Amino acid sequence: MSAARILQSDFKYEIVRKIFEGGMGVVYEAKQLGARGFSKRVAIKVIRERFARQPEFIENFIGEARLVADLIHTNIVQTYHLAEDRGSWFICMEYIRGVNLDEMMTRLQLSGRALPPELAVFIVSRIARGLAYAHSKTDPEGRPLGIVHRDISPKNIMLAFEGDVKVTDFGIAKARGFLTDKEGEEVAGKPEYMSPEQADFKITDKRSDLFSAGVVLSQLLTGQNLFRADTPEGSRERVLSTPIPDFQELCPTIEPRLNQILQRALHRDLALRYQTADEFLYELEHFIYHRGYGPTNETMGRFLRQVYDTTPTAPPPSSTSVTERRSAAGKTVRSPAAPAAERTKSVTRTQSRTQTQVRAQTRKVAKPQSLVERIKSRLK
Ligand SMILES: Nc1ncnc2c1ncn2[C@@H]1O[C@H](COP(=O)(O)OP(=O)(O)OP(=O)(O)O)[C@@H](O)[C@H]1O
Ligand SMILES: [Mg+2]
Repeated sequence: MSAARILQSDFKYEIVRKIFEGGMGVVYEAKQLGARGFSKRVAIKVIRERFARQPEFIENFIGEARLVADLIHTNIVQTYHLAEDRGSWFICMEYIRGVNLDEMMTRLQLSGRALPPELAVFIVSRIARGLAYAHSKTDPEGRPLGIVHRDISPKNIMLAFEGDVKVTDFGIAKARGFLTDKEGEEVAGKPEYMSPEQADFKITDKRSDLFSAGVVLSQLLTGQNLFRADTPEGSRERVLSTPIPDFQELCPTIEPRLNQILQRALHRDLALRYQTADEFLYELEHFIYHRGYGPTNETMGRFLRQVYDTTPTAPPPSSTSVTERRSAAGKTVRSPAAPAAERTKSVTRTQSRTQTQVRAQTRKVAKPQSLVERIKSRLK
């Protein structure tokens, strides 16, 4: 067989339902159709109409797909394919039958249930595991890619009903040679999950993601986001200046060792923070497993299935995302992550303290019917 042989085939996707309408993209459940009745459940992310003609967004979207193509790890949502349909770009990825962490927190809050602390630590240990892999990823020549996710936050963490925890949305990640990066001039991400260096327009490295994971852990344990304010600028200010509390005082169920782990993950001094995701992961795992037995995918899955009253194979629950609940009930049900977390996109340094303008939303572009519009009319 010749070494350069190429097999060519067209992929077809049948859209089943809309899962989520996010800031930049719309995510659908779809079927990938192949020869002789082959059908595989996948998720498709399409750039939203209003960004679909902006070269910078398309470049970022393509950059995201190229970056994640080779990130193959159980704690990262896997991307299968990047494609274009009549000018609209989309990513095909592994379909996760489950919910994002933001949805789970809202669901728990609405039903008055608490997340057991060891499951909170388990979730963040899996995030750290995915990050440890992404952070150490190299190019084919063995040179480190220097990946920093920069948007570790509950909506970008998926929980499968089997109990797997997966990091997703590398849409604003940085990596050498990939996504367009204006770090130093612009800041992008969800303000209340940013690291201090990110909120302060500094150059970030992998330790920034560990701070964000620490914010997620503290929120899972206490039910409160440490830094959320009424405005994105307010949240960034709080990231820079709010004293990190003694979590044991805040919440007596938090054990001293876990408090120490949180303090270290949330250290503003980079030299005193965890230096690697592996180090953070080790301490989280040691905390949950040093007594002999601790949480597993099975216990995580069982808990989720109880909360959502589902089985591993039942049809997916209807989404409880903020957008969906708003339109369904006609009023806004605020999730803990709702107000500022929705404003993810980049803010320039000059805009920073005065106006937080979402750069992306200020451009208006007229364009022909997009893929999202075509899908919408088909789903009606
Ligand atoms: N592979 C998947 N399988 C199932 N659901 C998914 C998948 N990927 C994403 N989702 C759902 O879609 C949501 C948005 O995904 P993602 O963060 O990738 O999109 P986004 O457009 O970048 O969103 P935002 O800009 O709001 O961060 C996730 O929080 C999750 O609920
Ligand atoms: Mg997202």
